[in-house]
Amino acid sequence: MNQPALSSMPAPACVGILDSGIGGLTVWSAIKARMPQLPCLYVADQAHLPYGPRPQTEIRALVSELSEQLLEAGARLIVLACNTASAAALSHLRTRFPDTPFVGMEPAVKPAALHTRTGVVGLMATRGTLQGELLRSTAARFAGTVKIVSSECPGLAEAIEAGADSAVLRARLDEILEPMRAAGVDTVVLGCTHYPLIASTLTQVLGPTVHLIDPAPAIARQVERLWTGRVAAPGDRFASTGDPDRLRAMLRRHFQLDTTVEHWPG
Ligand code: DGL
Repeated sequence: MNQPALSSMPAPACVGILDSGIGGLTVWSAIKARMPQLPCLYVADQAHLPYGPRPQTEIRALVSELSEQLLEAGARLIVLACNTASAAALSHLRTRFPDTPFVGMEPAVKPAALHTRTGVVGLMATRGTLQGELLRSTAARFAGTVKIVSSECPGLAEAIEAGADSAVLRARLDEILEPMRAAGVDTVVLGCTHYPLIASTLTQVLGPTVHLIDPAPAIARQVERLWTGRVAAPGDRFASTGDPDRLRAMLRRHFQLDTTVEHWPG
């Protein structure tokens, strides 16, 4: 029997994961920890990083186009592994692609409010996330009497993306986190997917007793719930709209993963 031509074969089913850069790899890593066999297609929109200061309409247009490309490449579920993009575009994407489940990031205010003993919680996020409606509604639902001290962490995602060393990051974080320390936070929400990549430096600056909340494992649980029953094929793919070599170097540095990275779209 003749094999169908490659171009006429349906693209292999996978989970599409999107971020402006390497931050969403923290979510990819949590997904793989729960479901090692799940094939993922990770796209870093490094040509447009950072998303944080961009207008919501622009982010919506960027991630809509990338979602469409991911669907064409076989994504059956899309993870918006970026708090800023989730704040700007999650409900828009769900309306525009009603047949596709989207999993987005939500600032982890609820677990932080449950965990804090001092009643003061820090929230590190980009400007876009802090100004978004998603945070306002999440805080209104879950913060209760807990005080939230937030910081838009200017330039931090870019510094992480550029591979800044921990001495440089420490100096920067000393400044950024001073208001949180002064307010007596005992719990800090990592409201940008880039920040878990520097968790050990954050702990050096905030002190070992401050609990950091990374929502990635909760996102992975949600992906597992939604993926059930969908067809899977082996193998992850990584792609960047910017410089694939940079993403490749960061995969090696943060995840000890030596792999090829494509340019996106191909
Ligand atoms: N990783 C993105 C987030 O979770 C933000 C980085 C950026 O500003 O592009 O918000």
